[in-house]
Amino acid sequence: MENFVVSARKYRPQEFDTVVGQSHITDTLDHAIENNQLAQALLFCGPRGVGKTTCARILARKINEKDGSTSEDNFAYNIFELDAASNNSVDDIRNLTDQVRFAPQVGKYKIYIIDEVHMLSSAAFNAFLKTLEEPPEHAIFILATTEKHKIIPTILSRCQIYDFKRIQIEDIQSHLKGIAEKEKVNYEEDALFLIAQKADGALRDALSIFDRMVTFSQNNITLEKTAEVLNILDYDQYLNIADLAKENKIPEVLSAFNEIVKKGFDPHIFIAGLGSHFRDLMMAKNPMTLALIEVGEKSKQKYSEQSKNWSAQDVIDAVEICNHADINYKNSKNPRLTVEIALMQLSSLNQNSLDSKKKNS
Ligand SMILES: Nc1ncnc2c1ncn2[C@@H]1O[C@H](COP(=O)(O)OP(=O)(O)OP(=O)(O)O)[C@@H](O)[C@H]1O
Ligand SMILES: [Mg+2]
Repeated sequence: MENFVVSARKYRPQEFDTVVGQSHITDTLDHAIENNQLAQALLFCGPRGVGKTTCARILARKINEKDGSTSEDNFAYNIFELDAASNNSVDDIRNLTDQVRFAPQVGKYKIYIIDEVHMLSSAAFNAFLKTLEEPPEHAIFILATTEKHKIIPTILSRCQIYDFKRIQIEDIQSHLKGIAEKEKVNYEEDALFLIAQKADGALRDALSIFDRMVTFSQNNITLEKTAEVLNILDYDQYLNIADLAKENKIPEVLSAFNEIVKKGFDPHIFIAGLGSHFRDLMMAKNPMTLALIEVGEKSKQKYSEQSKNWSAQDVIDAVEICNHADINYKNSKNPRLTVEIALMQLSSLNQNSLDSKKKNS
């Protein structure tokens, strides 16, 4: 069997221009290298899986390249990585600071990448401080962390700080698209959107969900299967419930809800999700707000279609009904009934307006 390499490793960018969504950082670093304005201590912080370690390695390599020492071996020689998560004692740091004093045998710089730097013990931090305060000219430190608030101010103030951002859903989606095409995986765009959305800004998470989906779906990633694996209610389920409610089909709505609960979905999440669905319908009613819906393009079309059948007032009422049930859910002695009442009310919305029309005529 061929060795399977997870996508997060296989597709770790090797150059700044393939790093997704962090151009505010990669551009700055590029310029800093060009103009010899790189600080001696840099701190990369931001959420997990957004490219901190990746950028630290690219930067380290680039500094060496600039330095003219270009053979593979020299890179390895002048770049030192310390994972502070497992080497967090004073002794580990002393080992490192002892080495730092010696100039590199080849090239101009020695680059130290200290990953997960927030894990250093406070004694280790203090031991490090001295070196960081007056680093030898040949030393460059790149620190990386997800928890900037755990870094003591004396360290922070000695570093040039780079804040990495969560990556935008669309950027993750198009990155996944590129990989799917390279790997010859069939996909529905909206399925990749859903994965990107679920990853919550972390590209590594997106890639590992993607790998899971490739295996589960046997190279054919559909929205339906993705929703199933991620245990997310498919948009279509909400669209369906809203259609049934529109036609006042109370029994059908209640049994659709029952099916959803039977699949193991939490009724509370369901009713909150239905509330968001009606919120999205409101946004879909106008091209100005259509962009505020966070779903894939194809699903957006469906929202647009459905929103035409709903009056603005009915949508507002629907959002309120769901919101009310959402708020009351936790305090209700019979939470399922709370959701069912909401569904019955939703299915009677235009019924009421029909009744009042009849009365008025
Ligand atoms: N901005 C990005 N562009 C392209 N790929 C990325 C990006 N961020 C993360 N990845 C992918 O995720 C993997 C992990 O990224 P990386 O190790 O750089 O994250 P990190 O920010 O250091 O995360 P952690 O805080 O968990 O250490 C990379 O190998 C790469 O495949
Ligand atoms: Mg990292």
